[in-house]
Amino acid sequence: GKDKELIRGSWESLGKNKVPHGVIMFSRLFELDPALLSLFHYSPNCGSTQDCLSSPEFLEHVTKVMLVIDAAVSHLDDLHSLEDFLLNLGRKHQAVGVNTQSFAMVGESLLYMLQCSLGQAYTAPLRQAWLNMYSIVVAAMSRGWAK
Ligand code: HEM
Repeated sequence: GKDKELIRGSWESLGKNKVPHGVIMFSRLFELDPALLSLFHYSPNCGSTQDCLSSPEFLEHVTKVMLVIDAAVSHLDDLHSLEDFLLNLGRKHQAVGVNTQSFAMVGESLLYMLQCSLGQAYTAPLRQAWLNMYSIVVAAMSRGWAK
């Protein structure tokens, strides 16, 4: 319905420029919780957060995250088909030391990026539509922790 239209419409342009938008998102994330940066094994090699944000390994992870969001947007009609993938992805994040509460902050950062990138088009219904989709993704990833 309306949620899907709002998400697809806004992702159409953002999805074409995944890396810069993903970098905005993660810059925000590390502002909200700088300790998350240390979970990336290469972070000790960075002189500063800014250096890290522009390192190839980091940009690779940003690309991976944006591809997961892209997959969710393309599967809005059958998000449950991503369940196994997301559960497994959650498990991998548990292994690298991420905790489930951190995903809420990733959600905040996603909304921040949308607000920066969409300007006037960032409306309350659009925000809610993205939050709903993101919550489903995070719930599936979080199920990877219990098992
Ligand atoms: C892999 C950290 C959030 C998608 C990884 C790795 C680390 C990591 C350390 C392994 C090394 C690497 O591939 O760079 C984090 C941290 C996050 C976070 C600290 C913030 C809380 C997310 C989110 C998504 C995501 C929200 C997608 C929605 C991926 C993918 C991989 C990955 C697809 C590759 C998994 C594989 O090797 O199969 N993440 N991540 N990450 N992350 Fe994240």
